[in-house]
Amino acid sequence: MSAADVNALRAERVAATAERRWLFIVSAILVLLVAMMIVTSLHWAAMPPSRVETVDIRALHVQGEFVDSNLGTAVEPSGQVTVRLVAQQYSFEPPCIVVPADTPVSFRATSTDAIHGFVIGTTNANTMLVPGFVTTFTTRFHKPGTVLMPCHEYCGVGHEAMWAHVQVVPTQEFFAKARDVRRLTCVAR
Ligand code: CUA
Repeated sequence: MSAADVNALRAERVAATAERRWLFIVSAILVLLVAMMIVTSLHWAAMPPSRVETVDIRALHVQGEFVDSNLGTAVEPSGQVTVRLVAQQYSFEPPCIVVPADTPVSFRATSTDAIHGFVIGTTNANTMLVPGFVTTFTTRFHKPGTVLMPCHEYCGVGHEAMWAHVQVVPTQEFFAKARDVRRLTCVAR
């Protein structure tokens, strides 16, 4: 074998080693991404869209469940905790929402004008609010504390100033409060 042949053989071996290393790295990345998908989809159990429920936006403030006095958090006769809220350019009503920790909480919400949306802190509560439609979903808050709830659908010039607070209070404290008040909010009156 000539010196050139030896060199060529060596180069081939180096290339094969590099190829194998890349194959290993790319496989590791693929496995990591698939694992991330499985973990996140199981952990943040995806919330399927609710059935289609419509509401007349012209009568929203006059009658039905979205009149001002009915907004906020209620404990229904069944024991279910329900938050009713309305989005409008550029605020949420009520702007401060109280929910109990470690309890299933149902949201019922709609919009009076443009398409809005919201996400609550780092929870899986993340939805769109469309005029004429009622958005519903149920979620659970684990840690007591106050989290931000920004509008996350571009809805006009005031979009970035549109957000609410969500106060997650310990379960017993919440139900003690809910005994005296029909609709709970944390809005200073
Ligand atoms: Cu409301 Cu963006």
